[in-house]
Order: sequence, then C-alpha cells, then structure tokens
Amino acid sequence: MMEKIKNREAEIAVIGLGYIGLPTAIMFASVGFNVIGYEIRSEVVRRINNGNSHIIEPEINSLLKNVVEKGMLRATSNPEEIREKDAYLICVQTPLRKDKTPNLRYLEDAVKIVASVMKKGSLVIIESTVPPMTTVRMAELIEKLNGLKAGKDFYMVHAPERVMPGRIFKELVYNSRILGGITPESADLAEILYRSFVKGQIFKTDSTTSEMVKLMENTFRDVNIALANEFAFLAHQYGIDVFRAIELANTHPRVKIHTPGIGVGGHCLPKDPYLLLAPAKEDFGLIQKAREINEDMPLMAKDLLFEAFKLINLPPEEAIVVVLGLAYKGNSDDTRNSPAYAFIEAVQDDVGEIRSYDPYVSGTHESIEEALTGADAVVIATDHNEFKILSWEGLGKLMRNRILIDGRHLIEEPPKGFIFKGIGRGEY
Ligand SMILES: NC(=O)c1ccc[n+]([C@@H]2O[C@H](COP(=O)([O-])OP(=O)(O)OC[C@H]3O[C@@H](n4cnc5c(N)ncnc54)[C@H](O)[C@@H]3O)[C@@H](O)[C@H]2O)c1
Repeated sequence: MMEKIKNREAEIAVIGLGYIGLPTAIMFASVGFNVIGYEIRSEVVRRINNGNSHIIEPEINSLLKNVVEKGMLRATSNPEEIREKDAYLICVQTPLRKDKTPNLRYLEDAVKIVASVMKKGSLVIIESTVPPMTTVRMAELIEKLNGLKAGKDFYMVHAPERVMPGRIFKELVYNSRILGGITPESADLAEILYRSFVKGQIFKTDSTTSEMVKLMENTFRDVNIALANEFAFLAHQYGIDVFRAIELANTHPRVKIHTPGIGVGGHCLPKDPYLLLAPAKEDFGLIQKAREINEDMPLMAKDLLFEAFKLINLPPEEAIVVVLGLAYKGNSDDTRNSPAYAFIEAVQDDVGEIRSYDPYVSGTHESIEEALTGADAVVIATDHNEFKILSWEGLGKLMRNRILIDGRHLIEEPPKGFIFKGIGRGEY
C-alpha cells in the first residue's frame, strides 16, 4: 500500500463533494491520483462531471475542468463505483441539530457506505470536524459492519481541515496538517498520501488528539471573541470606546484582544465549540458561556437600535430598518449562520419594515440608495469594503430619520446629522 501511494497508483474515493471534499478531490487528482467522488446530491455530480463547480472559490473551475478532462476525477452517486478503493476520504458535513447537539447522521451514513465497499488494507480518513473520540467510534462501527480489524486489516485517520474559503487552494498546499491515526502506521500512511501536495509541516498524533486540536482552534477564537464582546458591553456602560481601549491594551507585548462585533457566523465557529463539549461528562462552563455571549450579540445591536428610536420618539412598529450586509464576513457572499439573520429575526416582529442590502448576496435591494430611501435606521452587520467608503451625509438625505447603528466598527467619525450608536462605542 505504501508503495502504491508513493507511486500515485493508489485509487482514492472522496465521500462528500462540498466546500472541503471537492477542492481536496481536485488536489489529489491534480498530482496524479485517480480520484472518484461519491456525492448524494445528483445535481452536484452532474455539474462536476461537466467540469462546472457548484461552489464559488478562486481558480476552482479551471482546476476542475483540467482534471475532469484528463479523466483523473469523476463523480458518482452509485456506491458500487467506489468499491475496493485504496483510500477513502470522508468530507461530509457535521452540523448541529436544533438543540445544539452534533448531528453525525451524514458521517455515519458515509462510514456505513465505506464499510460496505472497502477492501482489506484500505486507508479510511475522516476530514470532517468531529467530536472527540468519534474516529475511534467510527473504526469500531466499521469492524462491526464488515468484520475487518481496525489497525490490522484497515488503517484509519482523522485529518482535520483548516482551510479558509476564498484561499482554499493556497491553504491546502501551504497550511500545516495534523494527522491523527488510530495507530501510528495509519498516520504514517496518511502522511505519504498528503505529502503528494502538502508543502506545510505535517504533525502526526492519535485521532482523539487531532479531533481535539481542530476543535480547540475554533473554540479559542470563539471564546476570545466573546471576551472582546464582554469588554464591549462593559465599555458601553462606562461610556468609552472599546476599540480605542483594545488598541491601547494590545500595545502590551503579550496581549492580543480580538475584535467585538454584532456576532460570530460561518460554518465552523458557531458549531465547533458544541462539538468539543458534546462527549464531555462535565465542563467548567466557560466555552458554553462564550457561545451564549456571541449568540446574544445581535440582541445588543437591537438594544442600541431601540435606544435610538426612543431618543426621537419613533414608535418601533413604524420604523423602516435597513440591514447593511448579510454575509457573515466582509467581502464574502457566505451567509451561513450570519448574525445579520439573527438580528433580523430578533427585530422583525417589533419594527414596521426590514430591508437589506448586500452587494455580494442576491435577493437584497439593487442599490444602497434604493434600500435607504425613506428609511429610518441603518444597521451595519458586515464589514464589506464597499461600506467603508460610503458618503453618509449624502445618503442621509434619502432617509426619513437618520439613525446609524454600527455593528462592525466601520465608522470612525460618526457622520453629522445622524444619531450614531455602535457596539462597544460608548455614548455619542
Ligand atoms: N467549509 C469550511 O470552511 C470548513 C473548514 C474546515 C473544516 N470544515 C469541516 O469539513 C466538513 C465538511 O464541510 P463542508 O463545508 O465541505 O460541507 P458541505 O456541506 O459543503 O459538503 C458536504 C457534502 O457531503 C455530501 N454528503 C452528505 N452526506 C453524504 C453521504 N452519506 N455520502 C456522500 N455525500 C454526502 C453533501 O451532499 C455535501 O455536498 C465539516 O465537518 C466541516 O465542519 C469545513
């Protein structure tokens, strides 16, 4: 098997061709492996086989076309076509249920398919982000389903993905990687496989450690953002600008406070702390509290908006509110778990009308002028570059009342003629 991988003669099946699976399949195919992608969405299979990506990512269409035309990558919905491959990479989604517990149904379905078609000697890799101890549990599931012995008859690894959408093809190559094997031999095999294109460092460990590493990385960020948000909440009560305070605190050589804002979105940060906590019998409560703080931040923006309504005696039910930005981060079209939606949900029953404008997201108003005409309040929910250079004095003339709530610290100097409030900005 080692030789087969070294010579790029190993056949690879990638299970789940989404944001992670498709670029990964393309990378392995680009360096000479024969790759087949197994995906349950038939429309995605059809598009990929036509060399046409269903996800937006720089360079993806040309790279995909190239490997499809060379016959190195093909997609299928037929499990028979992934029978007896040398390596299986599982890249399916691992979301939360409504009650915030992990929904591992997609992962378990994928593992069951793999167990039914794999051969002795296969390498099974889980790239999905999973709760600690899941890889070991999945290895046991395979043993139970097909009788092969983990670590003896097949190898198994957790290889978490750390790429950021928008930079995926660079980061797949240059990021360092953690490979957690259920046995050291499993991690050794995976290392040879990933070395075919990874130029970053590769660290080998056991699978529960690698699961924990991935979840700790995102939890670290989430907890630190919650701390910054708590500072913002305090600064508001003390009437000072938290951003100036953070700037000054960060001049300390060992302090690096994160950025407060209207909330934390995206596919990973809002869910990974829950995946980390899920199997624990007990915890100290810090991670859970941080999540709650970040989930409540849209309500802080709502409070600022309603304080402003009071200042001009505007009954909220008559107010027209414009949300600027629906994406969860600046200069992106990604709206997954965006705090803009949580904000809209929090205010929609209390205000007269909600409008939205996001130049990256379809289905919003055509132009900012159109969205603002006759409106009473604007709430900035995304730090798109386009919003940093707006001429507020001109835009204000289109509005019925001029309330501006900055949820992303985009406005340095409050514009003249506006009632201005911002998360962490103290009193104006
Ligand atoms: N998107 C990111 O930026 C990112 C970054 C790091 C880690 N991750 C992790 O990687 C994993 C995948 O995330 P993603 O963003 O690629 O998800 P995604 O939803 O974009 O893709 C998952 C794909 O798997 C398919 N699928 C589901 N069940 C299947 C099954 N049983 N058989 C075959 N296909 C199946 C889905 O149809 C979908 O196309 C998650 O665990 C996520 O937390 C994602």
